[in-house]
Amino acid sequence: MKLLVFASGRGSNFEALLNASKKGELKSDIVGLICDKNCPAEEIARTNSIPVNVLKPKEYDSKELFISTLLETVKQYAPDYILLAGYMRIIPTELIEEYPLRIINIHPSLLPAFQGKDAILQAWQAGVKTTGVTLHFVNDKLDSGAVIAQKEIKVPDSIDALEAEIHKVEHKLYVETVKSLVEDPFDTLVVGKCLMGRNCRYDGGSEYSSRVSKVVAGFKGRVVEVCPELDMGMGVPRTTSDIVDGRFVTKEGQDLTDKISHFTNKFISENLSSSKRVIAILAEKSPSCGKVKVKGLFTKILMEKLKEKILVVTDEEL
Ligand code: GRF
Repeated sequence: MKLLVFASGRGSNFEALLNASKKGELKSDIVGLICDKNCPAEEIARTNSIPVNVLKPKEYDSKELFISTLLETVKQYAPDYILLAGYMRIIPTELIEEYPLRIINIHPSLLPAFQGKDAILQAWQAGVKTTGVTLHFVNDKLDSGAVIAQKEIKVPDSIDALEAEIHKVEHKLYVETVKSLVEDPFDTLVVGKCLMGRNCRYDGGSEYSSRVSKVVAGFKGRVVEVCPELDMGMGVPRTTSDIVDGRFVTKEGQDLTDKISHFTNKFISENLSSSKRVIAILAEKSPSCGKVKVKGLFTKILMEKLKEKILVVTDEEL
């Protein structure tokens, strides 16, 4: 696989990835580095004969021109994954649209805690007992994409020791996470029918999402479309339902918890029993498929049953 790294600073994560690739520990090539300024990471690339592009936004007449140059430069490398390693700029939506679920960032805290700049200092000043490192997919909101891996760290007694420990963990976790995505890729994609534009929501809210379609089109594995409500026979148009005290209940007060549990277990045994690693893209606003705000029952059972074998990403995280 081809990995393209973005960096703005010291480049220690870039170097860790590069060393792992050189040693064959990471069965992928680092095909290039993109920086937004001259920085030590650039020097590491040059020393190792890795192609570098320094694209400085201020040197472009307009933001649009910078973005289109960035996009064209990235495309030339044809990367499988883009790895952000201390790249201190917001990733343009245009790039995320082109590479959904293929841009990864490393952040020095246990997200969603301490988003944004100086996360190590933020955690230190907040006096927390534990903090850590997060690897996540990049979306349009700062440090808010779906979490891929996290590692907790006990806060030591000085901020210098904390920084050193964080960086040590970062280098190991970044390599391990990319290695697992490369060597043990998702072989099954479960995708919500409403996000594919199928007519299945009670409120007519089925929405064709170009980002979801792009993931589906580029997926090298089995794709399983699902709408728990439709597939378990609620029909369209159907009544509204909600999660009340952890139970799946219709507006008329009918409790469908057992029905959706039965459906989900059957869905898992019929569709996912031979899967090694599953990624699911589901609609957050649904009482079956939500994950972050709505604790949807279908998603809850999938995550409980498949544990680390599944990564659920909601449309709002994408
Ligand atoms: C790391 O702490 C990373 O989590 C954050 O930026 C820092 C980059 O460090 N996003 P380096 O340039 O890789 O040494």
